Amino acid sequence: MRPTRGVVLAGGSGSRLHPLTKTTNKHLLPVGDVPMVYHPIRRLVEAGIEDVLVVTGVHHVGAIVNQLGSGAEFGCRFTYKVQDRAGGIAEALGLAEDFARGGPLVVVLGDNVFDAPLAPPLRVWEESKKPAMILLKSVPDAERFGVARFDGAALVEVVEKPAVPPSPFAVTGIYFYEPPVFDIVRSLRPSARGELEISEVNTRFIREGAMAWAELPGLWSDAGTHESYQRANQLLRQGELK
Ligand code: G1P
Repeated sequence: MRPTRGVVLAGGSGSRLHPLTKTTNKHLLPVGDVPMVYHPIRRLVEAGIEDVLVVTGVHHVGAIVNQLGSGAEFGCRFTYKVQDRAGGIAEALGLAEDFARGGPLVVVLGDNVFDAPLAPPLRVWEESKKPAMILLKSVPDAERFGVARFDGAALVEVVEKPAVPPSPFAVTGIYFYEPPVFDIVRSLRPSARGELEISEVNTRFIREGAMAWAELPGLWSDAGTHESYQRANQLLRQGELK
């Protein structure tokens, strides 16, 4: 397997978790017995990823660095980048171009808590020979996420937070990209909510026939709303998520 570098996106305003996020970065809130962001970092390191870029906003970068340190505690090396404003996941990803050094990246949102190891999907991605891959999860509330739309068995688009989901398959915040992703990010225009949308990036890859996808096994929860935050904590307390 080619050495792959990892990116953890831990910015954003955390507005859906107010007032918990008034003075703290969302990703530092406890989920189980560790801060939320430890969960995706641990999955990356377990998959053999030794270099991890953490992207966060200006307000809490000090707290994030204080909490995470050099990476020695996790068995990896952290690089940090600051996103000046909450301009969206795709904008934050764009900051990873130098870090990628022209190689492949595994990108994980800092509020995604899951138990499946990432080594198997990394192998699936490599075998697919596609420049990008997303992981999907069937959920009862797909309208909260980017949602996969299929035509028969073919994935045709990702729709961001549709009123009526075209399938139950949420796009998890675990993405695999080759460097062409940065050309796509540069060509994006802000969406109606003023952000560069990761779902648009993914739809571009899909339309070019350049996107692989797989289902994420095991348990998965985001932790970005009060309800999903409680759910992630419950799954950990019940020992269902490790
Ligand atoms: C973001 C993405 C969405 C994805 C989700 C996964 O949503 O925009 O496409 O399904 O992460 O956690 P947000 O957390 O900004 O609501």
